[in-house]
Amino acid sequence: MTTPALPIVVSGMRPTGRLHLGHLHGALANWVRLQADHQCYYFSADWHALTTSYDRTEEIKRAEREMFVDFIAAGIDPQRSTLFVQSQVKQHAELNLLLGMITPLGWLERSPSYKEVRENITDRDLALYGFLGYPVLMTADIILYKALRVPVGADQVSHLELSREIVRRFNFHYGPVFPEPQPLLTEAAKVVGTDGRKMSKSYGNSIELGESAESTSKKVMGAVTDPARKLRKDPGNPDVCGIFYLHKIYSPPDVVGWVDRECRVAGIGCVDCKRKLLEKLAPDQERMRARREELLARPKELDELVQLGIGKARVVAERTMEEVRAAMKLS
Ligand code: TRP
Ligand code: SF4
Repeated sequence: MTTPALPIVVSGMRPTGRLHLGHLHGALANWVRLQADHQCYYFSADWHALTTSYDRTEEIKRAEREMFVDFIAAGIDPQRSTLFVQSQVKQHAELNLLLGMITPLGWLERSPSYKEVRENITDRDLALYGFLGYPVLMTADIILYKALRVPVGADQVSHLELSREIVRRFNFHYGPVFPEPQPLLTEAAKVVGTDGRKMSKSYGNSIELGESAESTSKKVMGAVTDPARKLRKDPGNPDVCGIFYLHKIYSPPDVVGWVDRECRVAGIGCVDCKRKLLEKLAPDQERMRARREELLARPKELDELVQLGIGKARVVAERTMEEVRAAMKLS
């Protein structure tokens, strides 16, 4: 059921395995909300995963399955949105190649995220053609579906700027085929890990989406709070406490207000505060755990859902490619 009247949204995620609450509230929750009034395409960017892990390919498909299960558990509705796999829609590769012909090297070399990753990842050589071309492939991903809006994190905004430049250049040479995609920035809810740092799998401080109530409770009860609040009688500062950020996501406003007030005057202890958070967080985690288990118990159904999405994506992508080939006088 396609509703072309709705604005089109595209976003992808590299398959790295199970998602955590940082992914959920930083990106996925927004993807879920967008389904209400957009036609959404959400995909596994498995080719993009190769740009930094070309030597660890055995992990990708397992990670992808976990990621799709998490997407659906979080509320992505595969009937309404198109869930697919980048590498299964070959038009992404064709358009990537064509866009590569008009993308100046300088644009890619100047990309801030390219420079940053090159500087930060020192254990492997990233002087690679595919890695440099990351934003070109990303542009193909987006414009194949003529998306107007792309929900991404702030770190991806510079890529989208490049996408718009590539689109302008394409349209200038070959005629107006593509609209310019705009980033859709979520006021990404801040999620702090159990050790007080940014929640990240590599820090080992994450709470996974759909962890059991028991395991979620254990992590929350053991989590770092305001480090300056040593004793129950010490007043605390919720603004530096990860538990308070989670309250802002999960708890109703009166509870958030209660924590904000009572923490500062030592009216409540951290144990009370955490228990209150778990009243909402634990059932939500249980709900997602149950949904995950249902999906994992029927792997064939999940495969069929994704196959269906791949089929839908191919149709749209091929329609665009026919336009592209015609515009470039290649048909
Ligand atoms: N670059 C994105 C990331 O690392 C993933 C991605 C690939 C993407 N292609 C995309 C996101 C197209 C939005 C649109 O998170
Ligand atoms: Fe954090 Fe709550 Fe403890 Fe305040 S009372 S420091 S907000 S856990």
